[in-house]
Amino acid sequence: MAVKKVLLIGNGAREHVMAEALKRSRYHVELYVVGSAVNPGIRELAAEYLVADVCDKNAIGEFASRVRPDFAVVGPEAPKEAGIVDMLLELEIHSASPLQTVGRLESSKSYTRDLLEKHQIPGNPKFRVFYNEEGLEDFFLELGDDFVVKADGLKGGKGVKVSGDHLNGMEEGLEYARSCLLESGRVIVEEKLIGQEFSLMSFCDGTYVVDMPAVQDHKRAFEGDKGPNTGGMGSYSCENHLLPFLNISDVHEASDMNQRVAKALFEDTGSYFKGVMYGGFIVTRDGVRLIEYNARLGDPEAMNVLPLLKGDFVDICEGIINKTLDQVDIEFEKKATVCKYVVPEGYPDKPVKGEKIEVGEIPEGVRTYYASVDQREDGLYLSGSRAIAFVGVSDTLEEAERLAQSAVGSVKGPVFHRKDIGTKELIDKKVEMMKSIR
Ligand code: AMP
Ligand code: GLY
Repeated sequence: MAVKKVLLIGNGAREHVMAEALKRSRYHVELYVVGSAVNPGIRELAAEYLVADVCDKNAIGEFASRVRPDFAVVGPEAPKEAGIVDMLLELEIHSASPLQTVGRLESSKSYTRDLLEKHQIPGNPKFRVFYNEEGLEDFFLELGDDFVVKADGLKGGKGVKVSGDHLNGMEEGLEYARSCLLESGRVIVEEKLIGQEFSLMSFCDGTYVVDMPAVQDHKRAFEGDKGPNTGGMGSYSCENHLLPFLNISDVHEASDMNQRVAKALFEDTGSYFKGVMYGGFIVTRDGVRLIEYNARLGDPEAMNVLPLLKGDFVDICEGIINKTLDQVDIEFEKKATVCKYVVPEGYPDKPVKGEKIEVGEIPEGVRTYYASVDQREDGLYLSGSRAIAFVGVSDTLEEAERLAQSAVGSVKGPVFHRKDIGTKELIDKKVEMMKSIR
């Protein structure tokens, strides 16, 4: 069997499921991993595992020069923004992940809003980017009660404040916008969109895009979509690759946006976007709108879709790199998935750390992906962020939810999870909400 050496950067649950998908390849995959901590699941799959800062160009450059992988794939956003993909390319190591220039799609929300506007791609809400206070108050007056204020730059979803949820009234909105201006010299203020959010991730070789099943993530920490925004508490996808509140035309609209944005990025920068283009969309009364773009697989969304991938992930990565994605067979199993994260008490604001957890019995049909946990001789310890993702995969959403719940509910220790993700009760509410606004 032909050997493929793959350099994988990152050590979360997303990279764990990526490692697993790579290992399912028809090639004999040797995984060389760089992670900022040891992920016990990835370590088991790796030929070699370097613990280093995932943005450390010197450490990664040295490792890659010695290993000489066939290609690299970068999971998280931070190393892309730090120029790791560009640095690897200088070493003639290609990545199925975008270069810094096109990665701005994620790292700068203002760049992306402006890109859509410039190329007349529909999908933006009413928005303005401010570099100083001029006109700020007037724009708040124009938007009225429904506004969103976004710090520009990578904040893990935590720099966005929404009226009614995190900000009470225009005065608080103005105050937060001013603090963003002080911090980074830039702030985005936009219309608050009302509807249901979904993620549509597409493999993209710069020109050709292939969509993955649509997924709904749950960013809020607590049940009923309450509380602070997190990295994502869990997510689900359906056997028909739509979501219960989506029409096929909504997915086509989102997919079309991904396609047009890929083209616009090339026209704008002269570089092809190679990797995963992940649109965070919201379906509203007036159609699909863009919340934000990410230049990578979603976490937790990767755990919903990669286990269903029937094609060969190595072929997909090489198709992205060689611009031959149109020749790769990419299909996803027609199954439902529910992913639930167990997180430390106090997450995301004041998570407990260093406490021991015990994982109970994991039923068949559930996949376990490690994230922020530390494996010591006597067991697993929390390291302060989302700890373990459990994914139920089944023919029906109901069964997938039951499976994920029984696994996540078995974890003992100072942790919590969202029981409601993927349940009929919560999904019915979302469907009703969409019906009432459509
Ligand atoms: P982002 O980091 O841009 O994905 O924003 C984080 C979260 O804030 C999103 O998942 C939405 O729930 C919310 N959000 C962002 N922009 C808007 C908007 N224009 N209207 C309504 N909600 C928004
Ligand atoms: N699911 C949220 C993210 O990956 O950014």
